This record gives sequence, structure tokens and C-alpha cells, in this order.
Amino acid sequence: MADRLRAGRWARYTDPSALCHDHFRWRSSVDHVNYASLCFLIGQMGGRPQTILETGVSAWGTDSTRLFDSYVRSFGGAFWSVDIDSQRVAWLRKSVGGATRLVCDDSVVFLDRWVGEHPGEGADVVYLDSWDVDFSAPLPAAEHCLRELEAVTPALRAGALLLIDDSPGTLADVPVAARESAPALYAEFGAWPGKGMLAQTFLAGRGIRPLRHGYQALYRF
Ligand SMILES: C[S@@+](CC[C@H](N)C(=O)[O-])C[C@H]1O[C@@H](n2cnc3c(N)ncnc32)[C@H](O)[C@@H]1O
Repeated sequence: MADRLRAGRWARYTDPSALCHDHFRWRSSVDHVNYASLCFLIGQMGGRPQTILETGVSAWGTDSTRLFDSYVRSFGGAFWSVDIDSQRVAWLRKSVGGATRLVCDDSVVFLDRWVGEHPGEGADVVYLDSWDVDFSAPLPAAEHCLRELEAVTPALRAGALLLIDDSPGTLADVPVAARESAPALYAEFGAWPGKGMLAQTFLAGRGIRPLRHGYQALYRF
């Protein structure tokens, strides 16, 4: 009963910014490095029904899956999130609503399939946050993120929002432990080390610049 009452609370918001603030206040921390960028994103979604795709389900910290789940509970739309870890997916299934679909698969395989199964449909919001990044050796995560971006590109229409986690915009946004090795990676790849290191260069090559860039990179198509 208490669980049902708590879940109901997240379906009753009328102000998306208040929903995001409360999410971080109760489930994460308003001091979290992603607080400002995720609340900016949620604000841009404007309280309208949204089609949302996420790679990498809530693990710790941001708890992004429950944030997007709360958004579609309150404002409508549909939300898909994918993770390769079946235990995390199974655990989260207990706490999401009917407009959220949690999928256990490789994220690139999932995004390819989603695009194929939704011909002519676009996503309003895509959040790329799967393969954990090692900031001193970011290539595996960055290559995976680029493959995700390539797979989801057909769903990114004019107006769509793309947020990439762990994608520093300046050296000051790079975690302290990786700052020494960062300039060499910047010289080689034209972006600071992170999950979105190759995606940023790919998008910049197409004239797409971030709408907002700190620790996370946000694009509007
Ligand atoms: C940083 S966590 C996601 C955190 C979550 N988005 C949040 O903000 O609360 C990264 C997740 O990506 C998943 N992952 C790693 N490689 C993956 C892959 N190839 N496909 C799908 N998920 C993957 C991991 O199992 C992990 O749960």
C-alpha cells in the first residue's frame, strides 16, 4: 500500500522542473553532477507527452530510469530503456509504470531493432548512458556510444533532444584523476575523454553543436 502511494506521487506532477527537482532530492542528490543538465533536459521536454529512449538503466547516482518513468507517468508518452544486465532490468521492472518498457539486450542491437519496428516514428528524447567509461582509456565506451548514435540516428528528427552522459565539454569537467592524460586524447580525437568523445566529433562534423555542455552533452536536432 505504501509503495503504491509513493508510486502515485510521481504520476501527479504538473510542472516538469518540480518533478526533476524532487527526483534528485528524494532518489539521488541535488548536488549530483548531472542534476542541472538533466533538469534542463526535463524542462525542455515542456510537460508534453514524449517518446524517450535510454541506454543503460538506473544503476546508482542519477537513477535516470525512474526519472524518465516518472516523466511519462505524469505527462504521458512512452519510454524504453535497455540494459545488458538482466538483474538490473529485473530489479527495476518492479518499480516502473505501464508506459515504460525495460529491455534486456545490447543497446546497439536494441536501437537498431527499435528503429526497424517503428518505421516513420521519431524519438523526442534519447539518453545514451550505457558502457561505463574509463576516462583514462575511453575508446571502448566512446566507440560503443558512437555505434548507439549511428543506430538511433534515423529516429532523431528535427527538434529531438540527445543527451550523452560522461562527455566533458572542458578540461575542468574531466574527473581529476584523468586530467593528466586528457590533453593527449583531446589532441588525437578533438574532444575531451568520455563516453561521447567520438559522438561529439561525429556530430560536429555534421555541423551539430551542443545546446548545453558541461559534464553531459545535450544536443537539439
Ligand atoms: C552508468 S550505468 C547507467 C546509469 C543510469 N543511466 C543512471 O543514470 O542512473 C551503465 C549501464 O550500462 C549497462 N551496459 C553496459 N554495456 C552495455 C551494452 N553493451 N548494452 C546495454 N547496456 C550496457 C551496464 O549494465 C550498466 O547498467
